[in-house]
Amino acid sequence: MACDVVLALETSCDETAAAVLADGRRVLSNVVATQLQRHRPFGGVVPELAARCHLEAFLPVVREALQQAGVGPRDITLVAATHGPGLIGGLLIGLTAAKGLALAWDCPFVGVNHIEGHISANFIAHPEIEPPFICLTVSGGHTDLLYGEAFGKYRLLGRTRDDAAGEAFDKVARAMGLGYPGGPVIDQLAPTGQANIPLVRSDALAGTYDFSFSGLKTAVINLLHRAQQQGVAVNLPDLAASFQRAVVDQLLERTFRAAAEYRVKCVLLSGGVAANRELRTRCLEQGEAMGLRVYYPPLEYCTDNAAMVAAAGYLRHRQAGASSLGLPAVPNLKLEYDQ
Ligand code: KG4
Ligand code: ZN
Repeated sequence: MACDVVLALETSCDETAAAVLADGRRVLSNVVATQLQRHRPFGGVVPELAARCHLEAFLPVVREALQQAGVGPRDITLVAATHGPGLIGGLLIGLTAAKGLALAWDCPFVGVNHIEGHISANFIAHPEIEPPFICLTVSGGHTDLLYGEAFGKYRLLGRTRDDAAGEAFDKVARAMGLGYPGGPVIDQLAPTGQANIPLVRSDALAGTYDFSFSGLKTAVINLLHRAQQQGVAVNLPDLAASFQRAVVDQLLERTFRAAAEYRVKCVLLSGGVAANRELRTRCLEQGEAMGLRVYYPPLEYCTDNAAMVAAAGYLRHRQAGASSLGLPAVPNLKLEYDQ
């Protein structure tokens, strides 16, 4: 096989994932073993349990990824793995495995920043994307607004001061008795209701690029408690629609204000919450109204996966070469490499 073939591993949270990508863009396989059922009884990810599950799952997942791609170890030209940010136990397992495979197969290894992975999910489906761009990365662990000057060169404009957007979806869904993870359930329920419940009083961070979701979450929880004490029923579809509307309002206000201030032509969404239909639709509409191109990854590349890590690893290796085999796992790894 006379091309670049990247094998990537992603183990930073609760998905054990491996993917094979040819020439940085052609997805030959994308295998994701989710631990969702194992964490569901706890209503969130339990780090120690996640690490044990990664250890069980990673070899079968790698075998499956190679098999589905129709490639063998000798075809792999680069091994990539997430080295942060994320949960230390899981990161160590994927990172150590990737280094071991690179050593055994005598090919280079490259460490990938998970957030750069999420951003790069966009490049798989949309090769036409050109920096500079504004990228909103919204997941269970992150809400970051970035100015992307070039691939690998980012400036963090703002981030959440408390809960991540996905975390807020998960906590609100749990309070509403809708189960875990909350994002997809609220996404399904919201269109069946009306966004007619006022939850937000004021935007304390107006004018900044930072986000805050904990006040919104508390407003929902208080409303549910009051209703329970008074013995009145809450219209859950209306509450889901109102909560989602408030989250998306805040996300898009910052994103498009940044797009105008930094005079970019291109806005990217990434991360698990980028799967949200209201966020996608309204972002497209607003982008169109402002003459901006809006991109988001196909659904399977929004939530954690290894194809996005392979895409980022391929670009990073071309730009900066291989990583050292001494590269550590860094739970709070920052994205601003080249300031
Ligand atoms: O990117 P991801 O798989 O993992 C992290 O890196 O955190 O994101 C998972 C998060 C969860 O909080 C989940 O509730 C949220 O993404 N999510 C959604 C949707 N699908 C997943 N949030 C809103 N709407 C969705 N459709
Ligand atoms: Zn993620």
